[in-house]
Amino acid sequence: MIWNLEFHAGFVKLKTVSAGPANTMGMKVLLADEYGFCFGVERAVEMVEESVQKGETVRTLGPLIHNEQEMKRLATEGVATISEPVQITRDETAVIRAHGVTPEVQKALEEQAGKVVDATCPFVTRVQRLASRAAAQDRHVVIVGSADHPEMIGVKGYAPDHAFIIKDETEVASLPRLRNPMVVSQTTIKAKTFFDTAEAVKTKTDDEVEVINTICSATRDRQDAARALSGMVDAFYIIGATHSSNSVKLHAVCKENCERSFLIETEDDINPDDLAGVKTVGVTAGASTPEWLIKRVVERLKSLGADEEKNMGLK
Ligand code: F3S
Repeated sequence: MIWNLEFHAGFVKLKTVSAGPANTMGMKVLLADEYGFCFGVERAVEMVEESVQKGETVRTLGPLIHNEQEMKRLATEGVATISEPVQITRDETAVIRAHGVTPEVQKALEEQAGKVVDATCPFVTRVQRLASRAAAQDRHVVIVGSADHPEMIGVKGYAPDHAFIIKDETEVASLPRLRNPMVVSQTTIKAKTFFDTAEAVKTKTDDEVEVINTICSATRDRQDAARALSGMVDAFYIIGATHSSNSVKLHAVCKENCERSFLIETEDDINPDDLAGVKTVGVTAGASTPEWLIKRVVERLKSLGADEEKNMGLK
């Protein structure tokens, strides 16, 4: 059976699965149009793989991604995690993950390691450059995001004496009077939070406020695609770590329309009883979930009822 993608406003790509155990006969598996690795994470993993293939001993500063299974796979290739630049040695390659780091940390890595691979997501690099530019002009920078998030720590490092990190408009009151402020955002926050906060920042200055939206669309695209699909399925599997905030949020979005939505880490977390009577099952995955893990889940679902699979242009 083939479903028309255009009918679903481009949000759904289709796999068709049929036959198998009685309670899942004819079950179809539909993958959300946007799922799994975002551009920045995929790029970072590829950069690590490239270094491994060149025979380098690779150490990432902090876990490369929030996915235990992928980290274990990388560990089998000799990739290990360090928590401080001082732990790297001259015969090793240090990888800066997609969140980025402060200039000081980057310098420390360059002094310590044989080689540094900078896998900072280009969208994060843009925020770092904006903060750096504003600081060079002696302007204040307001960054809307979580102060303890690694991305924010890195960005603030580019304007240490000029930047303030606030999580939303409720924290604007804590800011001093601002000089020609620029307002930018953590790449993963909600647009409404950003624009409401930027508006409130205007009460803190007599100067013009430059508002630059630096939100990346990857999180929102995954949520929009999951929401669109959740109204069409009887059950939904969201693949991702239970401590990954974007996966937890994806789960919540799916639950709004599909009560039988399950956040799973691997195919082993699928309980066949949950599929009783299910005709259509949706699948999506958080931005740190690798494609191979998604394929395993689809294979497991096929083993519970599939004898046919049609690929309609899946990633
Ligand atoms: Fe980059 Fe956006 Fe992913 S900022 S790391 S592509 S969520």
